[in-house]
Amino acid sequence: MSDDPLKRVLDERRERHTEDLFDLLRIPSISTDPARRADVRRAADALVAELADAGFEAATEETGGHPVVLARRQVGDGRPRVLIYGHYDVQPADPLELWDSDPFEPEVRDGAIVARGASDDKGQVYAHVKGALALLEAYGELPVDLTFLIEGEEEIGSPHLAPWVERERERLEADVVLVSDGAMLPDRVPTITYGLKGMTYLEVRVRTSDHDLHSGAFGGGVPNAAASLATMLAGLKDADGRIAVPGFYDEVAEITEEERAQLARVPFDPEAWAASAGVHATPGEPGRSLLERLWTRPTLDVNGIGGGFQGDGSKTVIPATAFAKVSCRLVPNQDPLRIAELVERHLRDLAPAGTEVEVVHLNHGDWALSPLDGRGVRAAAEAIRRVDGRDPVFVRTGGSIPIVADLQRLLEVEVVLLDMGLETDRIHSPNERFDLELYHRGIQVSAETLRALARG
Ligand code: BES
Ligand code: MN
Ligand code: MN
Repeated sequence: MSDDPLKRVLDERRERHTEDLFDLLRIPSISTDPARRADVRRAADALVAELADAGFEAATEETGGHPVVLARRQVGDGRPRVLIYGHYDVQPADPLELWDSDPFEPEVRDGAIVARGASDDKGQVYAHVKGALALLEAYGELPVDLTFLIEGEEEIGSPHLAPWVERERERLEADVVLVSDGAMLPDRVPTITYGLKGMTYLEVRVRTSDHDLHSGAFGGGVPNAAASLATMLAGLKDADGRIAVPGFYDEVAEITEEERAQLARVPFDPEAWAASAGVHATPGEPGRSLLERLWTRPTLDVNGIGGGFQGDGSKTVIPATAFAKVSCRLVPNQDPLRIAELVERHLRDLAPAGTEVEVVHLNHGDWALSPLDGRGVRAAAEAIRRVDGRDPVFVRTGGSIPIVADLQRLLEVEVVLLDMGLETDRIHSPNERFDLELYHRGIQVSAETLRALARG
């Protein structure tokens, strides 16, 4: 048994920490699915009940969408004020047949907790909950004034959260925001993320006729919606892989030579990375390293495409309509709304004669960069040194957490992204997992970060 009261609690409660996370993972809180509304609320209620029970002033708060969990425990004597943000909603589990176990019946396989939300983000945000509760149990009080803000709409782009944060600004005031919703480097190299990408998401719908046409009777004399759409999508990039939308790169900030040198020092093996993604080529913008493209360059992808005959067998038809979902990941200093307009205009310019185009703007989110010298980053790095015995590596990601930029702007606060997961966690994918050791490490790193913040 350890002399450190925190370590003693962590040892004693280890089983409990795992079982309680399992209970949270059993709730299918899929934010995009209207049929899961009640389950989403049940996940929020479960978090509120646990935090209230531990002495937090806790409640679900209405935002107009799925509720947020707001829980505060404040001494108010000038100790640092910390806000921990995370999300309790999850992505849909489909395709279900590719899971080796029920996505909402967690189990430990190969040393990892397997369930939808295990890593993204229930496991990571819950590690903070357990870290705080362990500190409370060990010392009778927290070393910081702590607020949990755990939302239920991150996976649908947080549509109601920023206006709510703006209204509730005063209750959310903090010196540091901690977020764990990302991945460490391979071989469990601990990381702190300082850059997130923004995003703009469009749906393009084309129509070439008011009804499908016989391809023999009409072929050779009419436009084809599926072919028109293919032409348009193909024109979004040039043959080398650069995005061909005029003006797309205008606001992109070049990284400094210092950052490029820093990127070259990140332990990253392109071949292992490609193998873990299951791909046989790594195409993209020419003249840039793979890591530079993944972390610092804007991207454009077709997320889905449909139209025309999709059934078995053959049907000789010229489709009248087709659609595609297209999204871009954005970097400093691109403006998501401006990029959406540029992409829309370019798609319209590319439309072949007789092709009617409709573009629906689905969502937008800002990119974010965090400072590397704030008190939050220093405390998180100190906690990592204590727990892992090594320094963290500073990384960026191609992923997006849209509310982070809003928190920085509305609360004028430092946001620290303290990664607990792994890139191999299969987030959004079948058999999502969170390494069991890394979950317990996350609890410890969270508690040590709060202690380091209190030491100043
Ligand atoms: N946790 C992820 C973001 C992430 C992914 C961070 C990979 C680091 C590495 C988050 O839950 C997420 O999936 N965000 C969405 C945002 C979108 C729905 C607006 C994303 O990035 O697609
Ligand atoms: Mn997430
Ligand atoms: Mn996600």
